[in-house]
Order: sequence, then structure tokens, then C-alpha cells
Amino acid sequence: MDKVFVLDFGSQYTQLIARKIRELGVYSEIFPFSLSMSRIKKEKPMAIILSGGPQSVYAPDSPKISEEIFQLGIPVLGICYGLQIMAHVLGGKVKPSKKREYGFAFLDVKDRKGLLSNIKDRSQVWMSHGDKVHDVPRGFIISGVTSNCHAAVIESQDKKLFGVQFHPEVIHTTQGLRVLANFLFRQAGFKKEWKMGSFIQTKVQKIRDQVGKEKVICGLSGGVDSLVTSLLIHKAIKNRLTCIFVDNGLMRKGQFQELLKNFRHRFSLSVIGVDASESFLEKLERVISPERKRKIIGKEFIRIFEREAKKIGKVKFLAQGTIYPDVIESNPVKGPSSKIKSHHNVGGLPKNLSFQLVEPLKELFKDEVRELGRELGVEKNFVLQHPFPGPGLAVRIVGEVTRERLKIIREADEILIQEIKKARLYNKLWQAFTVLLPVKSVGVMGDQRTYQRVVVLRLVRSVDGMTADWYPADTHVLSRISSRIVNEVDGVNRVVYDITTKPPGTIEWE
Ligand code: XMP
Repeated sequence: MDKVFVLDFGSQYTQLIARKIRELGVYSEIFPFSLSMSRIKKEKPMAIILSGGPQSVYAPDSPKISEEIFQLGIPVLGICYGLQIMAHVLGGKVKPSKKREYGFAFLDVKDRKGLLSNIKDRSQVWMSHGDKVHDVPRGFIISGVTSNCHAAVIESQDKKLFGVQFHPEVIHTTQGLRVLANFLFRQAGFKKEWKMGSFIQTKVQKIRDQVGKEKVICGLSGGVDSLVTSLLIHKAIKNRLTCIFVDNGLMRKGQFQELLKNFRHRFSLSVIGVDASESFLEKLERVISPERKRKIIGKEFIRIFEREAKKIGKVKFLAQGTIYPDVIESNPVKGPSSKIKSHHNVGGLPKNLSFQLVEPLKELFKDEVRELGRELGVEKNFVLQHPFPGPGLAVRIVGEVTRERLKIIREADEILIQEIKKARLYNKLWQAFTVLLPVKSVGVMGDQRTYQRVVVLRLVRSVDGMTADWYPADTHVLSRISSRIVNEVDGVNRVVYDITTKPPGTIEWE
């Protein structure tokens, strides 16, 4: 299959570029910027995209590439730093801007014969850069400008070299997908031929190559990501995969037994069910810090996996349903982002892990995992279920996790989900859940003073969990949920609504 190589200069958006390319039906692979010329010549990608990156091309240790890459006759698109390195290597001049440009700008198109064909004037583009191209290299024209950037788009139409200062891959660049499509289809000659089915084929082969004849265990969490991971691995190595589903005592009401049955019968996976709720809850006693909770839970999972693996025999690999947003938020390797939370399957792993990891979904976003799940035969309702964090209700109980608090949050959560489904809101939302606060407030019920707990309702919309908006729910729905929780859940006398976006908040409270 024809493919595009994305060379990564350390931008936090590199995976998003790959994702947009997949959305357009083209196969792509990401490599570090230092990929050797001989590999490029051998693999013959039909086009190359140079990602953005946090550095300045003039910094002594900034990532560089060889001029040869532009002489191969392969179309190249440079994005942000990618544009600057292209201009720099080909003899143009890049200079620091007086001020860093971060946010929206509007693009004026000067030439529509190449990359900007069909692009409307004054469309919104998203900028995030310090340097900019001052003098374009010989043979290039400026085809797009913004008020703050006179070389926002440059191109050499005969050599098929293109550069954009803005980020076409982010949703805020309204015609970004069209710019990428112009590059791929009009300039590089790709055909739309990549589908999720092709992803399955490539991944199955990659899993076989990685695992060889060894055994794999996979932790099922009850969510979509780990189930899809298991199904993919099962497709690749059949009964050399054993799934382990642990009841950590932190799941929603009735979830463990029902899911265990489902996994075994619907999907013919070999699943070991482990009831470990006692040990998780014991280890969480008196723990308040969210990061400590996450680390404890992550460690306990691994301990159980190790114990179960020993019973199976020699197990070399642990598979996990890590998806891309988990990686970027827990463990950024480069770029300007910092650690937000330790997702238990990424940031919470012990250093001396006795397994090697298999993480076939690592580059996918949630909606892609759902699509993949459908391809693998998972029912619509299951793939559309809201994400549920690995550390479960422990990160929805602010403060110490106790059995009494778990009971309260489970009941409140069940009422919320029932009402959200009744109001036909479930599939419109990214997540809807309750949070239990460690404070009490005064109320009055039947002429009696009460002094009880506060429950928060969190309803959010999101595309990928990396940003989110609170949902302006109908007041009748909110009022029904609130009165049911206060009337039906013992120990709660107040319900509040969380109206915080992400950023600056996160979706979960801990
Ligand atoms: P935050 O709270 O960071 O969450 O805005 C973003 C999305 O990730 C989910 N989440 C997790 N998922 N393990 C997971 O598998 C975790 O440790 C974890 N923490 C948060 C969260 O529910 C939201 O959808």
C-alpha cells in the first residue's frame, strides 16, 4: 500500500497528523526525524511530512535533516518547525519573531495553483511558533500570508515541496483537512485506500512479529480499549493469549460479574476472573493523594498479573489497552507538555516490570478504537460506552476511599446514568459521572436538620478527551437527577453541577 512517512521533530501534534491522514484514507507511519536516508530510499514512501517541534532551527542541538531529503523527488510538506527546517536547509532565512504567536490567525491566499487549491480566503488557522521564515529559498513562492506572518505558506510547485507555518492537523484550523488532502491527493497522487480493516491486518502481523511463539496476558478493565486490545491479540496469536479481569472493588455497580460472563461467552476469550477487592481497598486505606492512589492501584494490578502469570507458565508479554491520549498526558517524552496524571497503565508501571509490553492501540484515538471495535465484532452499545478510568471510582471519590463512600457513589452514579439514558443524552456525551466530595453540608429534610455529603454531577462533551466542554444540560433533567439522588441515596443531601471546561480543569477530579 502507498504510504506517507511522518518525520517527528517533537511536536505534541505529531500523532494528530497521523490520525488526520488515516481519516483521509491514507496509510502513514511515524518515525523520528533522524530516520536514515537509506531507509527512506529503501521503503519509498510516496510523500513525507515533517512535523512541528518545540525548538528553533538555530539552536545548536536542534533536530536537523539532510538536504538530500528534498532531492529525492518525493513530495514533502513541512508543518511549523518542518517548514522552518525546510527553508533553512534549502538556503532561506528563519528569524525569531518579536513575539511568540500562539492562537488564531486568518489566512490570505495568494496562489491557488498548488497546496491551497480550493482554500477560501480569510479562513481561520491555528498558529503556535516563535520563529518564522523571513526569506524563502530560491525557487519557492509565498502562497499564503497572515497579518503576522508574511510566509505562512510557501511552495515550490515543480519540486513539490510545501511548507505551512500553521497547524493544519488541529481542529481550530478550519480548512486544515482540505490542505492535507490537497497535499496527499492532488500533489502526491495518493488514492483513498486505507481503512480500519487494513489497520487490523498490519497490527496482527506486527503483534505476531513482536510476540513470536511466546505467551501474552492482557488485563481487561471492563472498558473498550482493553477489550479491543485483547480481540486484536487473540486474532494474532489465538490461545496463547490469556486475559485477566480483576475486580478491584472500584468498579460500577454490578459490573464485574456481568462483564466477566460477557467476555467469556460473547468473545470466546480465555479469561481468568480475580476478586481482589479486599487487597485494593486495604492498600487504599487513608490514602488521599490522587497520584498515590493511581500508583498504588497500578502497582497492585501488576502484582496480580505477575501472580496469575506464574500459574499460566512462562509469560513474556503483558498487553495493555493504552491509547494515544493516555501516553501524551502521562508520559510526554518531548515537547512542551508536562505530566498531567499517571494513567495507571502508563505512568503507574513499576520500573522493574517483569513483562515486556504489547500496546497495539498506542497511536489511536478513542473514536478510532471504537471503530476498530466494531470491525472486530463488538456490539455498538459496548463500543459506545463512556470511558471509565483504570483506577475506577477511586479517582471519583475525592479523599479517602472507603466502602461506605463507594456505596454512595455507586448508587448516585447508577441514578445519573439511568436518567441520562432516559433523556437520550448518553450517546451525545463523552462522559457522565458523579464525584463524591469529602465535605458535608447542612440541609433540611422533613423538618429535620441533615448534615451529609455532597455529590457532583460531571457531564462533558469531547472529541478525544484531551479537551472538553461541560454540557449545558436541560434543567428539567438536572432537577430530576438531583432530587432522585438526594431522595434515594442515603448520606447525600446536596447535588452540585460542575461547569468547568478542560483545560483548565481535567475531566476526572483526580
Ligand atoms: P482527564 O481526567 O485527564 O481524563 O481529563 C481524560 C480521559 O481519560 C480518562 N482517564 C483514564 N483512563 N486510565 C484510563 O484508562 C486512567 O488512569 C485514566 N485517568 C483518566 C478519563 O476518564 C477521561 O475520559
